[in-house]
Amino acid sequence: MDEQVLRDPSLKTRPIVAMVTASTVVVVAAMVTTVVILNLDSTTVTEATPLPFSGRGYNREEYMAARQSLLAKDQGRALGAKLKLNAKEQILNGILLKEKKEIMEKARVDRVLYTPALSFFKSKDWMEKTDTFKIIRKMPKGAALHLHEPAIASMDWLVKNLTYRPNIYMCTNKQGLILINTFQSPPSDPDCPWKLVSAERAKAQSIEEFDHTMRRSLSFIKTDPLTSFNGTNGAWDRFNLWFQQYTEIDGTVHNATFGAEMYKNATEMFVATHPDFFGAKIIMSGLRFKSKKDIADEVKTAMALRRKFPDFVLGYDLVAQEDPLNPLLFYLDGLLFPTQQSLDNAVPYFFHAGETKWEGTDVDENLIDALLLNTTRIGHGYALAKHPELADLVKERGIAVEVNPISNQVLGLVEDLRNHAMVPLLADDFPLVISSDDPATWEALPLTHDFFVAFMDLSSQDMGLGFLKQLAINSIRYSALSKNEKESLMSMWQIKWDKFVEDAVDQFSSG
Ligand SMILES: *[C@@H]1O[C@H](CO)[C@@H](O)[C@H](O)[C@H]1NC(C)=O
Ligand SMILES: *[C@@H]1O[C@H](CO)[C@@H](O)[C@H](O)[C@H]1NC(C)=O
Ligand SMILES: *[C@@H]1O[C@H](CO)[C@@H](O)[C@H](O)[C@H]1NC(C)=O
Ligand SMILES: *[C@@H]1O[C@H](CO)[C@@H](O)[C@H](O)[C@H]1NC(C)=O
Ligand SMILES: *[C@@H]1O[C@H](CO)[C@@H](O)[C@H](O)[C@H]1NC(C)=O
Ligand SMILES: [Zn+2]
Repeated sequence: MDEQVLRDPSLKTRPIVAMVTASTVVVVAAMVTTVVILNLDSTTVTEATPLPFSGRGYNREEYMAARQSLLAKDQGRALGAKLKLNAKEQILNGILLKEKKEIMEKARVDRVLYTPALSFFKSKDWMEKTDTFKIIRKMPKGAALHLHEPAIASMDWLVKNLTYRPNIYMCTNKQGLILINTFQSPPSDPDCPWKLVSAERAKAQSIEEFDHTMRRSLSFIKTDPLTSFNGTNGAWDRFNLWFQQYTEIDGTVHNATFGAEMYKNATEMFVATHPDFFGAKIIMSGLRFKSKKDIADEVKTAMALRRKFPDFVLGYDLVAQEDPLNPLLFYLDGLLFPTQQSLDNAVPYFFHAGETKWEGTDVDENLIDALLLNTTRIGHGYALAKHPELADLVKERGIAVEVNPISNQVLGLVEDLRNHAMVPLLADDFPLVISSDDPATWEALPLTHDFFVAFMDLSSQDMGLGFLKQLAINSIRYSALSKNEKESLMSMWQIKWDKFVEDAVDQFSSG
């Protein structure tokens, strides 16, 4: 099924990651897949707005015609508005629109809180009960273009499988949070004393209770970051704990070539046994607090990996909290190096950029550098709408922006998701895809919960199946697959899509 792009902050790999990767793929495979038929026929928008007759204003009918025409033009610009739906799709569209409108109107007219736009930690259980969620869960959503590898295996797998393996240790830190790691013999750490999980579990009165407590503590969802932490920075501090949890068991440090090969092997093994999983590719990612020299070296490693695994290692990215860390410009020399050798040496970039509310600052200007460095896609691009020239460029060049709505909310960029900064761009058919960033940390399913909030919060009340279908199509169109790969994924997706529409209509029509 999906191409799934994994970003690993280090690519210094360890056995534990292999397990995470393998399981991940399972999670994603459960999601079915993909789309196509780039059906961009013209819309049904009525052309000219009738002009008033000379000497008097509109009569009522003329006014209503002009109104309808203007409205249709405006709506016609939205992502997915130009897709033509077939008869079956129109039935499903009707089912989706009915529930969407009911939920919205109930909150709007009755003046009560609108649950789909509340903190994910409050809306999660509620949204899972809606038909819309159940339909989206079954929908082949295409590819997930923005996922970080340590945060995609499900919490169930982490607790019920990984922590049952040998040499897994746990400790409880000063904030009462459980950390997990693997050692041959653990270091002494008075602030967080390491204990063997198997020994602790054996001592527990109830294994179920023990596992439940561990799960609650590992999961971000235990506490609502919007209310439990001090804004963006507090949420990031909690979030970063997650990524500190993996180290090499015997102290061996493997190099990046080994890491890439390990991911490639795991992907191939999985694809061999799961023919509807199309594959996964990786983007090497550096950390924005490293030295110029380290990043320059990593870019050279990325050049070497591109030569060795041209179809598997896609390129390079820089990650971690953008606001306080080094901007792209800080690493300019290292990042310019490949194309200074020759254009053939170019390392495609997939920069996280503009994941910020700080307009006009160094971090905001990461968008400028991402574009000048010919980024293939932009991760988040949350600040893009504030930069009209850059936004034009993104649209003209078809540089897709990977929007991760739940991540943006959890990490404090936006509270009410209807105010998400990408709404105006979704309303204007920008090259956008929806992804999930780090879904396991907040116990979201890869893609499903993010698609749900995109549907309920980031699109207009009258945008139905066409919006969702276009997002799936975009995820393939803007993937870094080759032309041939895109074509085969598209046809795979189309078959699944047609079956999905058929099944969903059967299941959800008239109760
Ligand atoms: C963990 O997953 C692996 C691979 O699927 C499986 O072989 C193993 O039995 C599982 N372990 C546990 C404790 O469930
Ligand atoms: C939030 O900030 C306040 C004041 O700056 C501080 O007293 C408090 O400990 C902080 N809370 C957290 C959870 O970081
Ligand atoms: C990793 O190590 C292998 C074997 O030791 C070597 O051939 C390869 O060039 C190294 N890769 C990198 C990126 O340093
Ligand atoms: C990947 O698979 C190849 C072929 O089976 C094997 O030789 C190689 O050691 C594997 N690499 C890693 C890192 O697991
Ligand atoms: C980006 O692409 C433009 C146009 O093809 C080219 O002139 C420029 O050198 C490229 N920049 C980098 C950093 O590769
Ligand atoms: Zn990310």
